[in-house]
Amino acid sequence: MRESDRELYDRAVAVAERAYAPYSRFHVGAAVRAADGRVFEGVNVENAAYPLGVCAERSALTRAVTDGCKPGDLEAIGITASPCGGCRQWLAEFQLRRVIYKSPAGEVVSATPADLLPDTFEL
Ligand code: THU
Repeated sequence: MRESDRELYDRAVAVAERAYAPYSRFHVGAAVRAADGRVFEGVNVENAAYPLGVCAERSALTRAVTDGCKPGDLEAIGITASPCGGCRQWLAEFQLRRVIYKSPAGEVVSATPADLLPDTFEL
């Protein structure tokens, strides 16, 4: 794995401490790096109305988009958990080149959005 990808994953681990997850107590961190080097961090933010919670990946991607990033501008994302189904669709949408995440077996692995969600539809 590239050193820069490992560093991105380490940033995700560090930011996970700031997750707001009082219901599940499952803290997740994410860090997205744009091709120009900027890094955007995110954490999961839960709510007493459970479905309103947001995943760490989506909070990081939302920050990147707010700062002007578009699909294709984002190189890699580090995630401290295996991305959920909905986040896999987001990773495909924003055309991440590499997704570095902690697998259910506890290993830090690298995959593409297509590995994680094959045969995505096109509008
Ligand atoms: N969670 C994430 O933040 N990302 C994922 O891809 C997996 C799940 C969060 C959502 C919820 O706050 C908690 O983990 C338990 O599902």
